[in-house]
Formats: sequence, structure tokens, C-alpha cells
Amino acid sequence: MITLGIETSCDDTSICLLSTGLEQSPKVLSLNSFSSEKLLRHWGGVVPEIAARNHLDKITPLLDLCLSEANITLSQIDQIGVTSFPGLLGPLLTGLNAAKTISLLKKTPINPVNHLYAHLEAIHLTSDITYPYLGLLFSGGHSLFCHVSSEYNFQVISSTIDDAAGEAFDKGGKILGLDYPAGKEIDLRSNQGKIDSFYFPIGLKNSKDGRMSFSGVKSSLRRLVEDRPDILENEASLNDICASYQEAIVEAIKIKTKEVINLIPGGSDLPIVLGGGVACNSRLRQVLKKSFSNVNAVEPVYCTDNGAMIANYAARTPNNQISFPESLKIDARNRFISKSRAKK
Ligand code: KG4
Ligand code: ZN
Repeated sequence: MITLGIETSCDDTSICLLSTGLEQSPKVLSLNSFSSEKLLRHWGGVVPEIAARNHLDKITPLLDLCLSEANITLSQIDQIGVTSFPGLLGPLLTGLNAAKTISLLKKTPINPVNHLYAHLEAIHLTSDITYPYLGLLFSGGHSLFCHVSSEYNFQVISSTIDDAAGEAFDKGGKILGLDYPAGKEIDLRSNQGKIDSFYFPIGLKNSKDGRMSFSGVKSSLRRLVEDRPDILENEASLNDICASYQEAIVEAIKIKTKEVINLIPGGSDLPIVLGGGVACNSRLRQVLKKSFSNVNAVEPVYCTDNGAMIANYAARTPNNQISFPESLKIDARNRFISKSRAKK
């Protein structure tokens, strides 16, 4: 089966052609993305209107490129997986309208994909993980723990009460004068810095219920920089701040993972799957792998928003295909399907 994956929920336009079969592990035939990050830097974050216009500009050239790289025509595509929730309204609409157009032209069924499930299930692109597993999803928009018992069943255990971990990296980076999005640069700078140079707090440290909070660490960084602006002038101390700041975020995730494992019966036997853009973080991957026995991190190329994870999730959930895609609407705010849409 050939699945076209379309991802446009935020600032990345990403298209993928994925081949799957009964006896075959998923094969990415082509994956091409454009990130409007550089264009958005001027604004210090995502501007939905600008991101949507960029998707509109890039989606057709990226699709053409994917088709020619994979040597496939539109008629050979068996289904279209498209992010339909959650995300930004304008950007989501651009991707869905592209999917609907192809669907109407070629009578190809659409499979609307929950972006969050797709982030975690991207693990299956490269690893054979069995259900159930404990999903750790850390991205720019979300931070949550999920009990995943099948490709159709995701139960949220706990989440952040304020900022997402990725927001802590990005907003922290802004305070430090780094370019948006700052996660990758903080990761790289941290490798040159000392993790215990500065103290940063861990939100809800003793809550024992898995809830997280990442806004306090950012406020603490703001106060530090306001009190001692000189520390930003020196590369070595900037790297030290990055390392200490990143360590507080990583330590918080480690502590909360332990709490969540204790909350679920048989939690310590569950494999852990780490996904989402923040899962690219080298220190987070290292610390979680050292602290827990069965940690499976999504490959970095499939961690940040990409069309392969969308195609992969659609390929794993054929029961979610919609027969009358013209009526399909996006659902920008809904994070989860309340009950499984799988047909019995
Ligand atoms: O999953 P993603 O591409 O978009 C959302 O669905 O939100 O995640 C983007 C987030 C950004 O906040 C970015 O700073 C963060 O992932 N990120 C990282 C790293 N690479 C990307 N954070 C920490 N370390 C990294 N190496
Ligand atoms: Zn994402």
C-alpha cells in the first residue's frame, strides 16, 4: 500500500510517500519538508497566517518532488494521511484542502490523522515495539504521558499545566537572545557548558501525580538575566546557562516519568516510547536511557514534525479512512479522539 502523508499543523510543510505491506516494514520512498522557521525568526515565534501562506507556496512543489523521487504517479496512491488535529487553524486547513483536492481528483480515501498519536507511533518506522507502551510526548505544543494499548487506543495519564517542554526551550532561548526555535541550539551549546553552574527550579517537583509545569523555569531564567545581564556577553557563561537550564527540563521529565510509572499498575514493565520535537534532545535521550530499562526514542529525523509520521499512522489505522472526504473538517483544538473510531 502506498500512503501519502501531509503535515502542515504548525510551521513545517512536510510531504512523504510511504510503502507498507503485510510482510514488510514501512519504507519511506520519499520525504521532503520545508520549515518556515527562518521566515518566522523575525517575529520570534509562529505567526499562523504566515505559516499558512508558506504551506500554500510549498505544498505542491514538495509533492511534485516526492512523486518524482519515488517514481510514483498520483493515481498509484492508495490513501492520503493528513494531519487534521490538533494544530493551528490556517495551517491545518491548507493541508486538508490539498488532501481533499487530490482525493476528489483521484477518488483516493483520506485518513485524518491525530498529530499527537502520529508523533509517538513514529517509533514503528524504525523499531518493532509491541503494545502496550508508555508514551512520552514532548514537543513545542504538548507535553504529556500516555498509555498506548493499540494504534487506536491512547489514554492520557498526565500533562503539563502550563507551557510545553519545547516552549520552555524556545521561550528560554528568546530570553537568552537565541534564534527561534532554540531547542537545537540550547542542546548544542549545553554540550560545551557545565550543568551545575546555575540553579533552576523543577515545577511541581513533589506532586507525585505526573503533572508537569515548565513556566517557572523560564521565569527563573528571565529573573537571572535581568539581574545579571553581563552573563550573556560571555560565550562560556552562555553555554553554562544553557546546560543548567536544559538540565532542569531534562531532570523534570525524568522525575515525572518515574512518578507516572508508579501511578500505573505494572508501569515498570512497560516499554517507554519517547517522541516529539524535544525527543531530539541529546541529553534527554541519554538521561532517560540511563534511568529506565526499556527506552525507545523515535529517530531524530522523525521526531520534529514530518510527513512520514503522518503517513505511518494512517497506514497503521486503515479503519479511520473516511469515505466522504469532502465533508471532512479540521479540528484545531481537539487533542484526542474521545472514543476509538475503529470499526469493529
Ligand atoms: O514536534 P515539533 O516539531 O512541533 C510540535 O508539534 O510542536 O517540536 C518542535 C519543538 C520546538 O520547541 C523545538 O525547539 C524543539 O522541538 N526541539 C528541541 C530540539 N530539537 C527540536 N528541543 C530540545 N532539543 C533539541 N535538540
Ligand atoms: Zn508536532
